[in-house]
Amino acid sequence: MNTVVSTDQPGLIDQFGRRIDYVRLSVTDRCDLRCSYCMPEGFKGFEEPEHWLNFDEIERLIGAFARLGVRRIRLTGGEPLLRRNIAGLAGRIATLPGIEDLSLSTNATQLDKHAEALKAAGVTRLNVSLDSLQQARVERINGRDVLARVMTGLAAAQDAGFAPIKLNMVALRGTNDDEIDEMVAFCMERGFVLRLIEAMPMGDTGRNAEYLDLQPVKERLRTQFGLVETALSGGGPARYLGTPDGHFNVGFITPISQHFCETCNRIRIAVDGTAYMCLGQEEKFEFRPLLREACSDAELEAAILHAIDLKPERHEFREAPHKILRFMSMTGG
Ligand code: 5AD
Ligand code: SF4
Repeated sequence: MNTVVSTDQPGLIDQFGRRIDYVRLSVTDRCDLRCSYCMPEGFKGFEEPEHWLNFDEIERLIGAFARLGVRRIRLTGGEPLLRRNIAGLAGRIATLPGIEDLSLSTNATQLDKHAEALKAAGVTRLNVSLDSLQQARVERINGRDVLARVMTGLAAAQDAGFAPIKLNMVALRGTNDDEIDEMVAFCMERGFVLRLIEAMPMGDTGRNAEYLDLQPVKERLRTQFGLVETALSGGGPARYLGTPDGHFNVGFITPISQHFCETCNRIRIAVDGTAYMCLGQEEKFEFRPLLREACSDAELEAAILHAIDLKPERHEFREAPHKILRFMSMTGG
């Protein structure tokens, strides 16, 4: 059962003893890309704007989570930079009592316009999706010809002072797995942390997005680049190898080949205020009705405790790969 909580108390503990201190908040389900592992090409099922939580509702909800012990927030999407005045929202979240870390995941196509404002608003860390360094491949995997835009965005983020910047590469068998070494070299040279991710079966996008087991890749990179285990961890699921001098790190996110549900510390909130307790399960709780009924703070906090109690023990991507029908863009990546 949950116990609550002044700020230095244990916080939100789920039924399996996991401390939930991290919320990934999707601020839009729209995206300017159509990554093969995320959304079908002609996708039309976007949420109605009147169902989007507005900034006041988001601030109130995240404020309640923070009172109960959540310390870290990540803004996601869809593509979060498509939400109007995202830096304004970031500023409001960053200054909520209890929030210690605000980060953002982006495809970087618009990052050149937003990098400075996001930094100024208090976003401390950026994750950027980049699945290939080849123009034609980006077009095929991500659905649009945006490699040059992404490179401009990355440069702007570095100029704005974001460090480290993590590059997320979803490793797809037969599609970009021959490019992993080049991506390592690129990140070493440019000072990015690389993260290789196994594709999860999230809705049938109708396009090839075949998962690659990253365990052998990890062993190969270890030998080839002389990497050693590093303690680097954002408190998340990535397991890292790095150069002994600490200059370069590569993380492996392996939800399929080696799941990490025992240490899961997070929930996701979709743009419509639905909290998904696990990427690979259906348990959810809708906060929008409560927020729009002008509930009290005590009611909101009680609802959060109830939601945390719904968190399932683990995903079943291996056992039941067709179980989850919602797309990643709906849940929030
Ligand atoms: N499997 C794994 N990662 C995914 N992402 C989106 N869809 C999937 C999926 N099916 C992640 C990628 C992308 C980020 C926005 O979400 O890392 O870079
Ligand atoms: Fe957009 Fe990210 Fe989904 Fe790609 S993975 S379509 S960038 S939301």
